[in-house]
Amino acid sequence: KKEATVSITVVGASGDLAKKKIFPALFALYYEDFLPEHFTIFGYARSKLTDEELRDMISMTLTCRIDQRENCSDKMERFLQRCFYHSGQYGSEESFQELDKRLKEKEAGRLPNRLFYLSVPPNIFVDVVRCASRYASSPTGWTRVIVEKPFGRDSESSRELTRCLKQYLAEDQIFRIDHYLGKELVENLSVLRFSNLVFEPLWSRQYIRNVQLIFSEDFGTEGRGGYFDSYGIIRDIMQNHLLQILALFAMETPVSLDAEDIRNEKVKVLRSMRNLELDDVVVGQYKGHTKGGTTYPSYTDDPTVKKNSLTPTFAAAALFIDNARWDGVPFLMKAGKALHTRRAEIRVQFRHVPGNLYKCNFGSDLDKATNELVIRVQPDEAIYLKINNKVPGLGMRLDCSTLNLLYSSRYPSEIPDAYERLLLDAIEGERRLFIRSDELEAAWSLFTPLLKELESKKIAPELYPFGSRGPVGAHYLAAKHNVRWGDLS
Ligand code: BG6
Repeated sequence: KKEATVSITVVGASGDLAKKKIFPALFALYYEDFLPEHFTIFGYARSKLTDEELRDMISMTLTCRIDQRENCSDKMERFLQRCFYHSGQYGSEESFQELDKRLKEKEAGRLPNRLFYLSVPPNIFVDVVRCASRYASSPTGWTRVIVEKPFGRDSESSRELTRCLKQYLAEDQIFRIDHYLGKELVENLSVLRFSNLVFEPLWSRQYIRNVQLIFSEDFGTEGRGGYFDSYGIIRDIMQNHLLQILALFAMETPVSLDAEDIRNEKVKVLRSMRNLELDDVVVGQYKGHTKGGTTYPSYTDDPTVKKNSLTPTFAAAALFIDNARWDGVPFLMKAGKALHTRRAEIRVQFRHVPGNLYKCNFGSDLDKATNELVIRVQPDEAIYLKINNKVPGLGMRLDCSTLNLLYSSRYPSEIPDAYERLLLDAIEGERRLFIRSDELEAAWSLFTPLLKELESKKIAPELYPFGSRGPVGAHYLAAKHNVRWGDLS
């Protein structure tokens, strides 16, 4: 049997994502010996660079894990020697034929497997896929293509993109990335739930009052306004990252850990979601101000954003899953840029204890006695559970205390970046953490009518100051469902 080799071509090699995430993740995999013995990396882009220039460019963002013994710069050098550059237009047949020749040279007669990472704007996805699949796919091994969102901007465009991609690739060759699925604590969700008897039986409307999925960033669009302005926060974060977490959180127990079994369950959740109405959402946009001598810009100060843009940089939404397990439980999502902090977390608020013997110890506010499970995805990864406890002493005072699994204390080694997990899975053909086309379709069906309504009715976003906790409308939305945002209480 022939030895296999993997060639990884990063298309859009000079872009930000490639420099900041993809090459560093590939190096981290190499550094920790996760890449196959025989591999080659090609950067592909339009600019005319030499192999050396590519190496110089990517070496700036490569870092070594602290706890490694081996000399980092040696290993980096060896990695860089396996990186090459190919310059070409994205839709150029000749250029992909040339690339094919270069790949063949490097493969040196071994069984060739080829992975293409599309780190390019969506309007050139199809051109690249057409050329790569026709002229540079592996003749005898596998060919896989990783694509990054946006996968369209509504149901129709997404369906069209899927249709076009499928002219050249089979579904099992397409790896649609949602990098949140590669985050350690998101991956851990099903371990937490399905391997702990103390959680699984509680995971339903019987015991859970509401679930909150929160994403906040403490910076604005920072030069990405051009992309962001035609998508907005609902498409950028909710329709993918938060909805994916929701599906994993709420799915029924899959038959097995097999990718198809898991994704079948996720699709069922997505298809059981109630239609979103305008009343179920609040949208906001950040506005600038000056504080302590520092000036914070408005969203519309970004030169790449339209001056009168109504694009939301913040949104909160109340979603419901109309199935037996979750009937009536609000799943509240909140996502925003330019807020007071950077954080992504899942908060699970449990019901009140029926006939609580100690209710008088909580005064009139029983919500204070609610058990809450918090899964902090980032930063400072942690899982903590708020419980009620007696304050030691002769009196009877209760205290809401926390059982805290803080990753930095429990697991001292560095947590791999999401892209490391996902690239490794794509190389190994593991599809569990990638989005299948029917999941994508269901996710768009949920948000498309709402997005169209917001846009056709030109709903003006509520302005909120840069660095604040977001628009006050988000509190009213939660209150309407008897919920308090856990991150604010
Ligand atoms: C991306 C969004 O998908 O996720 C960005 O397009 C956002 O707007 C980013 O900043 C957040 O990712 P992370 O991993 O830094 O939380």
